[in-house]
Amino acid sequence: MISLNHVSLSIEDKRILDDVSIHIERQKAAIILGPSGAGKSSILRVVLGLWKPQSGTVVVDGRDITGLTENRMLPLRRKMGMVFQGNALFDSLTVSENIAYFLSDKNELSPAELKDRVEETLDFVNLHGTSDLYPAQLSGGMKKRVAIARALAFEPEILLFDEPTTGLDPINAKSVVEMINKVKENGTTTITVTHILQDAIILGDRLTLMNEGRIVVSDSVEHLVRSDDPFIREFFFEIHQELKICKEKQLI
Ligand SMILES: Nc1ncnc2c1ncn2[C@@H]1O[C@H](COP(=O)(O)OP(=O)(O)OP(=O)(O)O)[C@@H](O)[C@H]1O
Ligand SMILES: [Mg+2]
Repeated sequence: MISLNHVSLSIEDKRILDDVSIHIERQKAAIILGPSGAGKSSILRVVLGLWKPQSGTVVVDGRDITGLTENRMLPLRRKMGMVFQGNALFDSLTVSENIAYFLSDKNELSPAELKDRVEETLDFVNLHGTSDLYPAQLSGGMKKRVAIARALAFEPEILLFDEPTTGLDPINAKSVVEMINKVKENGTTTITVTHILQDAIILGDRLTLMNEGRIVVSDSVEHLVRSDDPFIREFFFEIHQELKICKEKQLI
């Protein structure tokens, strides 16, 4: 469904992505993990066609998007939803207006259908009854779920999440993770960028660990946790420690 093949990208002599290859199958959940500045968000920009790599190809739904003009990119981009790290909600619009904002442009829905679609997506993210509230009246977790609802309202085949739980308290973070799992179970292909290991392990079919623009490893979670590679071991140290504590306290 989505393939990056030997993608390299530099901005002003700085190498941002270095020979990155990732293959994500339809209806699977890919996780991109790594320290700050590793190039995680850059991968999402490349998948959305916002950044063009200098070498390598990016294939989305069978089409090589690398050389596509903005106009030709549009129909493909409509298959993709993006939930930005900062949510990117309009503060002066209500929850329902935020969700309907892009929908009314691009879909031929009647006002009644539009209203139904907004209500349906709000129900999906457990935000029934919040239509008339403004973003300032919502908690961080609720804002995130509105951002997810806005992306979902398009019924995208692919949904990209950039650090969906960063900055949320554990309860809100958990509800956002549950939401992403529900999206995945509905058959949407997802790419989630995170540096939170627990989320990666709960959400991912496959984890890709990045560092300094390169892929360190891309594998299933079971294999990664057992790896002997020093960087991977260091990265997963936290998880090993937590497992150890849980076992010592006989919690698991
Ligand atoms: N518009 C830009 N112009 C130049 N360099 C950029 C630009 N955006 C990002 N970079 C650089 O590219 C590298 C990778 O950035 P990217 O945003 O992909 O990292 P990240 O893994 O998402 O990090 P974080 O966890 O902090 O969000 C960083 O060194 C960053 O400084
Ligand atoms: Mg980032």
